[in-house]
Amino acid sequence: MSQEKQLDQNYNYTVVRQFTLATILWGIVGMSVGVFIAAQLVWPALNFDTPWLTYSRLRPLHTNAVIFAFGTSALFATSYYVVQRTCQTTLFGGKLASFTFWGWQAVILSAAISLPMGLTTSKEYAELEWPIDVLIAIVWVAYAVVFFGTMIKRKTSHIYVANWFFGAFILTVAVLHIVNSMAIPVSMTKSYSVYSGAVDAMVQWWYGHNAVGFLLTAGFLGMMYYFVPKQAGRPVYSYRLSIVHFWALISLYIWAGPHHLHYTALPDWTQSLGMVMSLVLFAPSWGGMINGIMTLSGAWHKLRYDPILRFLVVSLSFYGMSTFEGPMMAIKTVNALSHYTDWTIGHVHSGALGWVAMVSIGSIYHLVPKLFGQERMYSIKLVNVHFWLATIGTVLYIVAMWISGVMQGLMWRAVNTDGTLTYSFVEALQASYPFYFVRFCGGLIFVTGMLLMAYNAYKTIVAPKDSLKAVEQPA
Ligand code: HEM
Ligand code: HEM
Repeated sequence: MSQEKQLDQNYNYTVVRQFTLATILWGIVGMSVGVFIAAQLVWPALNFDTPWLTYSRLRPLHTNAVIFAFGTSALFATSYYVVQRTCQTTLFGGKLASFTFWGWQAVILSAAISLPMGLTTSKEYAELEWPIDVLIAIVWVAYAVVFFGTMIKRKTSHIYVANWFFGAFILTVAVLHIVNSMAIPVSMTKSYSVYSGAVDAMVQWWYGHNAVGFLLTAGFLGMMYYFVPKQAGRPVYSYRLSIVHFWALISLYIWAGPHHLHYTALPDWTQSLGMVMSLVLFAPSWGGMINGIMTLSGAWHKLRYDPILRFLVVSLSFYGMSTFEGPMMAIKTVNALSHYTDWTIGHVHSGALGWVAMVSIGSIYHLVPKLFGQERMYSIKLVNVHFWLATIGTVLYIVAMWISGVMQGLMWRAVNTDGTLTYSFVEALQASYPFYFVRFCGGLIFVTGMLLMAYNAYKTIVAPKDSLKAVEQPA
């Protein structure tokens, strides 16, 4: 038996398999809720006059499901896989890894029940009430123990760069979550934040922005640094650049939060600092993107027949796009137009669908055959169809939101010569309807791709072991 196969048998893949399947399941659930709320914005009667089906309760259900159930499960799966393989040792902590899986599923189920019931702290992306927050903190500390414990007992001399990104994501999310969730409970289902006023807003967006920076960015960059070279069969373009990328990114992100609070009661200098730091952030973001894309040097031809590689490369292009758009939106005068409009929603989903979902999908397609004893997915054709559905769905979504957002911003600020508003708010809303419909279609197309993925993964898993052989491709 080859050394690699022997090592493979020693690794703890059970927890990786569990999180991989959870990623597909929660991806479908979270995005379907997204499609449903997108439909409600076109046809408001879809709340059926039922409190737990109202937009206000389902919107946080969508954001929590896609970020913490889908995205975070993908991060658990890939980080546990990557840390074992690059450190050539099995996961530390025995049953602790399994505890993180079941503990995290308990968090997701509690969120899925409590949010539609209307139980919320009303802090965006931190809506869950204090007993669930305590559970999150316990599971997260266990995750850190497993991850860093594995790194400490590694058999390799150096720590591969993907682990640096995963490590920063795990540590920072722990700190963000604990600090932002500090609250005084008044009952099992209600608590009040220990912060108030402008301080509360600042702490909340320090959390919110770094949830984007460390969960939706650094963690997925860890994924990128392992799966892009693996799938392309090439080493990382520049290892030196990856280290510069890491330190520059983590030292800049932490300062940019105030760009969410332009023109608010926050001190002016804080807003300007957030703006400047966001502009500087463009450099390491693009450094990382270029490093990922250039890893394909000498392997570009593989894009012709490998849809998994296409998922990964297109995800990097969307990453580049959203990290160009973000710094632009952080400029105060631009933000004066974009804030509160659908432009922000377009930006969010070019990052969320184009980057986060696409890089996860590509990595999961790489993982599934490896975890279930096959050389390839059941149908490469279906992976290709999925790729096109995901790309078309994302483009429809974000283009619709860009147009609608800029239009809203312009309509809201238009004034007549006598100083009165040219348009009422309802007129701007009416003008947005066609774009909401296009967004709904884009979402539906994206979810259809996810269903194909579930079918393809199922067929790969139930196929007799070693029956799906890799197809020979031209060099
Ligand atoms: C250099 C990188 C980036 C910068 C400087 C940046 C900047 C911004 C700015 C200025 C806003 C609008 C704030 C407002 O008007 O309320 C925003 C919103 C947002 N961005 Fe980014 N962005 C970046 C990358 C990303 C990426 C890669 C993603 C993710 C996947 C992302 C996710 C979000 C989210 C979720 C919001 C909405 C927050 C909310 O109001 O709920 N951003 N970003
Ligand atoms: C089929 C796919 C999806 C659809 C149809 C969809 C739809 C929506 C809708 C309708 C909203 C509310 C917009 C508003 O209030 O105006 C929303 C918000 C949001 N979605 Fe999605 N979504 C999808 C996928 C995702 C994914 C994969 C992620 C993250 C990985 C994500 C993250 C978010 C976030 C962070 C917000 C809040 C944005 C903000 O407050 O600025 N979505 N989504």
